[in-house]
Amino acid sequence: MPTPNEFEISRRNLLVGTVTSVAIGASHGANAQNAASRSHAPAQGMPATAKVSFSVNGEVRALELDTRTTLLDALREHLHLTGTKKGCDHGQCGACTVIVGGQRVNSCLTLAVMHEGDSVTTIEGLGTPEHMHPMQTAFVTHDGFQCGYCTPGQICSAVAVLDEIKAGIPSHVTGDLTIAPQLTNAELRERMSGNICRCGAYSNIAEAITEVAGRPA
Ligand code: FES
Ligand code: FES
Repeated sequence: MPTPNEFEISRRNLLVGTVTSVAIGASHGANAQNAASRSHAPAQGMPATAKVSFSVNGEVRALELDTRTTLLDALREHLHLTGTKKGCDHGQCGACTVIVGGQRVNSCLTLAVMHEGDSVTTIEGLGTPEHMHPMQTAFVTHDGFQCGYCTPGQICSAVAVLDEIKAGIPSHVTGDLTIAPQLTNAELRERMSGNICRCGAYSNIAEAITEVAGRPA
């Protein structure tokens, strides 16, 4: 039987071993390696910074950032693209959704330095007031918003959702994995469930997306 002291020591060793394993695993990621190779050792008391360059709405942007900067803060605070909204900053509301390499991403949950060479599209890159993206037009036509705070994230997500369905990517509610998913109401609501609207414009949002998908609402 271990004494209480021996038990304490082995529990501590277990915790240290676990943390070390997680740290080693994380450092093996390609993004982490790339970011590390571009990072600067911080002067005492200063945050570590790293250079990163990625394309935003078709324009290459080079930044030197505190390595803890999220993609959301890089877009809003450093590039002044404030169309992308910060709601919860914890991956729970979808207000910060942008499209990276064709896939939607909660930009509050990913570090900017992990996106070297990536192609990022924000709401500003989808369309302009004079030349709106069809999804933006449909949101206006169907009153798919009230206060509008969630809307940039909803629209970015909706555009990527239609591409996901076109690419045959199944969701949690796809019944038959042997055939391409269809744009049913259940599929749409499941795929958009990460985008919360405090104003409750959900049915109008669903109508807008359905129209763009070319199906009757
Ligand atoms: S701000 Fe990113 S999910 Fe809420
Ligand atoms: S339109 Fe207000 S939160 Fe969605």
